[in-house]
Amino acid sequence: MLFAKKTAFAITALAASVSASPAHQKATSTFSTSVISSTASATSSATSEVISLAQWATIGVTQYPNIFDPSAADANDVCSGYSLTGLKTTETGLYGRLSLLKECNVYGYDFDELSLFVEYQSAERLNIQIQPVDLTYVYILPDNLVSKPGVETLTPFVDSDLVFAYTASPFSFTIIRKSTGEILFSTAGNPLVYENQFIQFNTSLPKGHFITGLGESIHGFQQEPGVNKTLYANDVGDPIDANIYGVHPIYVDQRYGTNTTHGVYLRNSHAQEVLIREQSLTWRLLGGTLDIYFFTGPTVKDVITQYVSTIGLPNLIPYWSLGFHQCRWGYQTSDRLSEVIENFRKFDIPLETIWTDIDYMDSYKDFTTDPHRYPLEKFQAVIDALHANHQHYIPIVDAAIYHPSPLNKSDIYPVFDDGVAAEAFLKNPDGSLYIGAVWPGYTVYPDWLASGTQDWWTKAMVDWHKKVPFDGIWLDMNEVSSFCVGSCGSKNYTQNPVHPPFDVGGPATTFPLGFNITNSTDLPYYNSIWYTYTHTPSPSSTASTTSTSTTVSTDPMNTKAPGKGNINYPPYAINHQQGNHDLAVHAVSPNATHADGTVDYEVHSLWGYGITNATYHALLEVLPDKRPFIISRSTFPGSGRWGGHWGGDNSADWAYMYFSIPQALSFGLFGIPMFGVDVCGFNGNTDMELCNRWMQLGAFFPFYRNHNYLGAIDQEPYVWESVTEATRTAMAIRYEILPYYYTLMYEASKTGIPAMRALSWEFPYDKSLASVETQFLVGEAILVTPVLAPLVDYVKGVFPGVPDEVWYDYYTHEPVSAGPGENVTLSAPLGHINVHIRGGYIIPTQKPAYTTTETRKNDWGITVALDKVGSAQGTLYVDDGESVVVEDSLVVDFVATHGSLYTFPRGTYDVCQPLGSITVLGVDSRPSVVSLGETIISNFTYVNNTLSVGNLQSLTRAGAWATPLVFSWK
Ligand code: GLC
Repeated sequence: MLFAKKTAFAITALAASVSASPAHQKATSTFSTSVISSTASATSSATSEVISLAQWATIGVTQYPNIFDPSAADANDVCSGYSLTGLKTTETGLYGRLSLLKECNVYGYDFDELSLFVEYQSAERLNIQIQPVDLTYVYILPDNLVSKPGVETLTPFVDSDLVFAYTASPFSFTIIRKSTGEILFSTAGNPLVYENQFIQFNTSLPKGHFITGLGESIHGFQQEPGVNKTLYANDVGDPIDANIYGVHPIYVDQRYGTNTTHGVYLRNSHAQEVLIREQSLTWRLLGGTLDIYFFTGPTVKDVITQYVSTIGLPNLIPYWSLGFHQCRWGYQTSDRLSEVIENFRKFDIPLETIWTDIDYMDSYKDFTTDPHRYPLEKFQAVIDALHANHQHYIPIVDAAIYHPSPLNKSDIYPVFDDGVAAEAFLKNPDGSLYIGAVWPGYTVYPDWLASGTQDWWTKAMVDWHKKVPFDGIWLDMNEVSSFCVGSCGSKNYTQNPVHPPFDVGGPATTFPLGFNITNSTDLPYYNSIWYTYTHTPSPSSTASTTSTSTTVSTDPMNTKAPGKGNINYPPYAINHQQGNHDLAVHAVSPNATHADGTVDYEVHSLWGYGITNATYHALLEVLPDKRPFIISRSTFPGSGRWGGHWGGDNSADWAYMYFSIPQALSFGLFGIPMFGVDVCGFNGNTDMELCNRWMQLGAFFPFYRNHNYLGAIDQEPYVWESVTEATRTAMAIRYEILPYYYTLMYEASKTGIPAMRALSWEFPYDKSLASVETQFLVGEAILVTPVLAPLVDYVKGVFPGVPDEVWYDYYTHEPVSAGPGENVTLSAPLGHINVHIRGGYIIPTQKPAYTTTETRKNDWGITVALDKVGSAQGTLYVDDGESVVVEDSLVVDFVATHGSLYTFPRGTYDVCQPLGSITVLGVDSRPSVVSLGETIISNFTYVNNTLSVGNLQSLTRAGAWATPLVFSWK
C-alpha cells in the first residue's frame, strides 16, 4: 500500500500553518492529535496515530555563505602570515617554528606559534604538516581513524623528484619537480592564515591547468577556473555543483606542458572549501591541522596508485556483485518482490540481486521486517528461493536508530536498548542522548568513536541475519542525516513523528520530465514536490532560534569564540547546500558529541566512513568466509577499503545520465572503484528512451543497479519491450566479459587503478582528450561511447591513439576508420551502444548465462584484438570469487605475436570449464593452417579479417587453463 497522497498533503498544509513561534510545544501537540495518517493501517501499529515532524523543527539559522558575500574580508588582504625560524634538518626532512607576524583574527582567533614538519616519506610522497604548538583546542585526526602514512624509506629525499623550497618571512613554500624544474605548488605571495576556525593557504597554478578530483559533487570531470567546491557531507538529492554525500579532498594536476602529473591530498575531516581560479587554487578549512601529501606521479595512474595506497586500497568485491542489481523504493510487499523476480525470469533478463528499500521494515526501524507487508516466513521463502537460484538479496540499512517512546509500553525496540546499554550513541554536550529525526520518527545515532559501538552493531547484524539472510548491505542516510535541526527530540521524545516534514511518494510526474512542459497543472505540481524532496525547505526569512533543541545555538551571527570556537555557526560560513546553509539542516548538529569528547563539527564528514567500516567488520562475523559487499552513500578517503558507492538521488533526466560518467571517473581516483548510479534515474519518472540508453550505459559501470523513487512509475527493464531488448544486448556483453571485468577489479584492489577509466589517464599526452567525459574506457581495452541525448540515432566519439592504435567494433569486428583527434560520427540507433576493442589487447570471456554463478560454469573464450603489427597481450585473474582470504588463485597471461597465441597459466585455483572458442580480430589474410597445439583445426571461419574457431571443448577437457596452450594461424 502506498503512502496516502491526500494525507501527506494534509500533513504538509498543517505543518506549514504551524509557524515558528515560541509556543512550539503547544503547536506540536495540537498538531499531533489532529493528523491521522492512513499509513498506519498498512503497518503493524494499525491503530496508533501518525504525525509528521513539524516543519519549524527543520529550520535553522540563515547563513550567508562567505563566497557570495562581496563585503566579506579576504584573508589574503587582511592577514600577514608567519615567519619561519629555527629550521632544522631531520633524517627525513625539516622541522621549524612559524611565528605569527601580526594578528588578523579574520574568521577566528590566530594561533601565535605553529610547528612545521616537512617529511620525505618515500620517493613518491612528500608530507607537509603545519599545526599549532599548543594543541589544547585543536582536533588531531587520529591515525587509527583515517590512515596516516609514515616514512617508508630511509633517505627518501635522495630519490624524490620533489624539492621543498621556502621563504622565511612571510613564510611561503614551493614544491618543484626536480626533473623538469616546474613549480608544482607554491604559496608564495599569499600569507598562511591559521586560526581556530579558519585555515587558508593558496597555490599558484599555471594558466590552462587541468585539475580533477575534489568531490563529491555533480560536476564535469574537470575542476575548471570558477569552480567553488564545498566539502561537507550532505544529505541532498544530487543538486549540480553543490556539496553532496561524500568528501574527498584530493586533486590531480595533469600538466600537459611537461607531460607529468602530481596529486595533492589534504588529510583533514573538517568542513572545507576549495576555490579554483585561472591561475590559483585557494583552500579553506574550518579547523584541524594542515596535513598535506604531494604525490609525484609522474603519470596519472602513478598518482592514483600513490594516493590510493596511502588512504587504503579498495577491497576485492565478490564476483556476484558484478551481476545486475534491481531495486526500487516502493516494493511494498514481499509478494510484489516475488513478482518482480519472476518477471525478470519471464522476460529472460539476468537478475543477480534484488534489493529492498525501507518498505520492508516495520515502521522504518533498522533490523526489523513489517509483519504485514513482509511477513517473515514468506520473506524468508523469497530469499531462500533466490539463493537456490544463485541469486542474492540486499536490504537497505539506515544510519539512524529509532528511539522508542518511553510512554508507550508496547513500543519495544531492543536494538535501541542494547545501544543505550553499550553507550553506543551520540550525545548532546550535556551528556543526554542526541535525538534527531529520520524515517521512523525520533532517532539516535551510533557513535563510531565509542568503544562499545562495534560490538553492538555486529550483534545487531548477526542476530538479524539469522532471520533475514541477506548477502550484502546498502548503507543510506549516513552523512549523517537528521530531518530536524539540533537534537529536536531531546525534549519531545514522547511523541513519534513518523512522517518526515516533506511529501514522500506522491505521484512523481504524470509524464516524462520535460514532455508535458506545457501542462499547466501537473508540471508545477511535480516540480514543487520534487523540489521539496531534494532540497530542504527554505525558510522565508531569518529562521527561528527558539527551537526545542538542546543544541541549537542562540547565537545566530557567526561570532568568533575562543577555544574550539563557535561550532554551530562558525564565523566563516561555507556554501553548504541546504535551504539556509545552516550546518545542522538535514544533518546531525555540529555540537553532537562523541564518547571521547570529539564533536561532529570536527568529524562530520567521517560518519558514513565510520558506519561502512563497522558494517564491513560486522559482515565478517555474519558470514566469516564471504567477502563483505557494501554500498554506502557517504564516503571519505579510505571508504573504498570496505565498500563501494552509488551516486545518490539523481533524476530521471538525460543530464544525470551524462554526469554519471564524470562522477564514476572521480570515484575511481578517490579509491572507490565499485561505483554506479541509479540507472534510469531516481527522482521523477523515466521514459522508454532514457531507460533504454541508460540500461545500456549502466552495463559498463562496475556497479549496475536500477533504482527509483517511491511514487515514480515502474522502470524495471521489462516494462518496455525496447528496453528489454536493449538490456539483453548490453547485459550479454557485460556477462561475456565478466572475467575481464573481475580481473580489473582485482587489479584495482592491488594497485588502486579503477576499472572504469578516463581517456586522459590511458592517453595522458594528448591534451585534446583531457576533458572527454562522454566516453570512457573499461580497463585499457574497451572503449564505450554511449548516447547521452534524446531523439538521436548517432553519437560522436574520438578514437584515442590513432593512427598508431586500431579500434575494432565489438559487434562487427570491423576496424574503425578515424583520424587523430577526429570526432567520428557513429551509428547508434535506439538499443545500440557503441563498444570498441583496442588492438593489442586480449580479453578472456565466458559464455553469458542468467547469473554470474551460471556464467562461471560455462565454457571460456578468448578474444584477441591484434594491433598494427599483429601483436596483443592480456591477463586473466580467477579465484572462487568470494573468499576473504584467497588461498587459491590463478593468473593467466596471454600473448599473441607472429600468428600465434600463447597462454601461460600459473596458480593453484582449479578451473574445470573447457575453452570453447577463440576469436582473432585483425588477421590480415585468410590463414591456410589453424591449429591448437598439435591439432589442426579445419573448421574455422574467416570473415571481416576475423578468424573464429569454436567447439574446442574436446581439446581442453581438463579445463581451459590446465596447461599452457599454443594456438596458431599461418
Ligand atoms: C534516500 C536514498 C534513496 C532511497 C530513499 C528511501 O533518498 O538515497 O536511494 O530510496 O532514501 O530509503
